[in-house]
Amino acid sequence: MNREISVFAPATVSNVACGFDVMGFAVNEPGDIATVRQIDEPGVFLINVSGDDGRLPREPSKNTAGIAVIEFLKRINAPGGIEIELHKKMPLGSGLGSSAASAVAAVFAANILFDKPLSRNELLPLVLEAEKAACGTAHADNAAPALLGGFILIRSYNPLDTISLAVPDELICTILHPALEIRTEYARKILSDKIFLKDAVTQWGNIGGLVAGLLKKDYELIGRSLQDVIAEPLRAKLIPGFSEIKKAAMSAGALGCSISGSGPAIFALSKSKSTANNVGQSMKDACEKKGINSSIYISEINNEGPRVISQKE
Ligand code: HSE
Repeated sequence: MNREISVFAPATVSNVACGFDVMGFAVNEPGDIATVRQIDEPGVFLINVSGDDGRLPREPSKNTAGIAVIEFLKRINAPGGIEIELHKKMPLGSGLGSSAASAVAAVFAANILFDKPLSRNELLPLVLEAEKAACGTAHADNAAPALLGGFILIRSYNPLDTISLAVPDELICTILHPALEIRTEYARKILSDKIFLKDAVTQWGNIGGLVAGLLKKDYELIGRSLQDVIAEPLRAKLIPGFSEIKKAAMSAGALGCSISGSGPAIFALSKSKSTANNVGQSMKDACEKKGINSSIYISEINNEGPRVISQKE
């Protein structure tokens, strides 16, 4: 029997308001599961994809899970090949890092099958190749937290420099996922290439404030810093009821609230689980008032990242 391993990789909240393309964190759910198997035949074979209503590419070279594993086999110059089964357990086009979760689950599992020739940091560029194919840019703010776990700052892309930020224990994330879809590629196209200096000043002040707030465990500072004057104003229009949902989250006691990645998911951070639950209910009510169904996920920051859920030798 060939070795087989199944890995779960988590959804991620990227941008985290002020950190467009440079900040993200992992949550406990939802996420994707990839089962990979070592085979003698060279190449990568995507033998089953479930949970996507047949919408994702079945060709390994076009599917993020397949691309990351193809890059992995090239990188380690592997003999033989890999079969992948991908089980989508999260919505597509949600702003929750669905493409990154699939790629991370598959490549993390493949690396274990080959007895870990690469470190997690060395796997990251392989996942970024997959992200580039999925949405046109190799943004790392979903891929890095999905792979490394925790709250990640991407200090630089060239060279790639990721920093793990410790988070206070009581920081809880509420995610509202309205039953809508937004393609990341489109949500990036509507952004402006240029920004005003005054907006840049606001944004980098908040990024510094957010990092300081996390490290100092200063919840008020975290809340004050969760502001985005660059992407949110342009993308909010794509999410019906965004301002009402954000208001509902803030009135229920959230520290801050913004769009998760390119949306339509909206995240809020709270101090304590009970506040996060109330925030979730209020956001859901506000969304339903607009006639849109939604799902809520509540989670602490997931420091583990991908996890093995089963293994056969
Ligand atoms: N930082 C990326 C964006 C994340 O906002 O376009 C995409 O999920």
